[in-house]
Amino acid sequence: MLIIAGLGLDGNGITVEALRAVQTADVVYAEFYTSLPQKSPGDIGASLGVSITPLSREEVEERELPLAEAASRDVAFLVMGDPLVATTHISLVDEARRRGIHVKVFHAASIFSAVGSTGLMLYKFGKAASIVYPEENYIPKSFYETVVDNIERGLHTLLFLDLKADKGIYMDPVDGLDILSSLDGETRIASVIVASRIGWDSENIVYGTLDEVRSLGKAFFGPPPHCIVVPGTLHFAEEDYLAHYRVR
Ligand SMILES: C[S@@+](CC[C@H](N)C(=O)[O-])C[C@H]1O[C@@H](n2cnc3c(N)ncnc32)[C@H](O)[C@@H]1O
Repeated sequence: MLIIAGLGLDGNGITVEALRAVQTADVVYAEFYTSLPQKSPGDIGASLGVSITPLSREEVEERELPLAEAASRDVAFLVMGDPLVATTHISLVDEARRRGIHVKVFHAASIFSAVGSTGLMLYKFGKAASIVYPEENYIPKSFYETVVDNIERGLHTLLFLDLKADKGIYMDPVDGLDILSSLDGETRIASVIVASRIGWDSENIVYGTLDEVRSLGKAFFGPPPHCIVVPGTLHFAEEDYLAHYRVR
């Protein structure tokens, strides 16, 4: 059997029923390349009462290591946030089912719902997108088209920031805002929110114009994970709530 369980926002947010299943598994793997926890994998394992073996993207997505063993024994695979939200793990579930392996998914808190901490109404979010660092001969811009498209429909945009732990890439919000600003020649973006470490002890949210927020500087935002939200048309209740986070 393959048990896929979410660790929630900070790595401590596993549900009671998932914990029971994980504790009876024969082996416990985890991946921390799609998001990162507040504590080390060793400390998470200690608090769950299991020994965790972290896997790289290549071990999960190319070698499909969790599946190789799940045919003959119970394998638990832990993922930050919700395991099937904004990750590639749906294909792991699909492949397991093709191979006749029983799969049990345990959901957990996700940045997709926790972004409600900004005060923006979740049903007014449009398509989400990712800001990634430009690579040689390739400058990804499609995320900006998503933002503009959402703004035109009055919708908010959740932007994930480049995070490839196995390559040591954790995009700083200032870099994300610089990329956003460089594409926003027509100044369609009236305001932005940076939400840092939502659900962690050091959670922080700031709201202002793009220039106000990015001029806070890299040291202000602290360690990852962070996301950026570009608000669409704001309801007065959203505006009131956002006032708590206004850059002063
Ligand atoms: C690919 S998504 C993975 C989402 C995860 N499976 C979940 O359900 O929360 C990872 C991106 O979400 C954002 N993110 C994840 N956790 C966050 C948090 N606690 N606070 C702010 N942003 C977060 C970051 O931009 C990060 O690069």
